[in-house]
Amino acid sequence: MLIKASTPSSVLLVCLGNICRSPTAEEIFRQQAAIAGLAMKVDSAGTGDWHIGHAPDERAQRHAKAHGYNISKLKARQVTADDFRNFDLILAMDAQNLADLQVIKDGITNTDNTLAKLSLFSEEDPTYAGDDVPDPYQGDSHAFEEVIERIESSSQAWIKSWKTT
Ligand code: 4NP
Repeated sequence: MLIKASTPSSVLLVCLGNICRSPTAEEIFRQQAAIAGLAMKVDSAGTGDWHIGHAPDERAQRHAKAHGYNISKLKARQVTADDFRNFDLILAMDAQNLADLQVIKDGITNTDNTLAKLSLFSEEDPTYAGDDVPDPYQGDSHAFEEVIERIESSSQAWIKSWKTT
């Protein structure tokens, strides 16, 4: 498979708590990138600090596992300004996450234009473009299934966007 020169070599997935959406996205994205033969560093973080060091939410773990994704070993962390220096692409699960990340990015003094590109996670996805991956934290099992469906679809769309053929 041929990939575009602009393909990122590192991607950070970001939500609010880093215990539901973004750890799920981290594992799905990592598996899909590996299947596509893309060597890529994949990580996740939250804009909030409430769950630092915690494993993913039990419901997120259970739904992920039922779809073949083991996220049980992941640990939540908070996004930092350094993430904008250390990753090529940062993807926000929803519009609020994107706005919060933009504030962090705007606060970084940078002269050489090497900070991570920032986008909404759904941006390249023809099915869900512009949509949030809705926060499932207060939701039911349907909300957690919806998270997996949207993340699989939008991850696939990013990977497709990096192929030349
Ligand atoms: P996440 O879900 O952003 O997908 O990890 C949430 C987890 C925790 C909270 C909110 C959203 N919280 O308010 O604690």
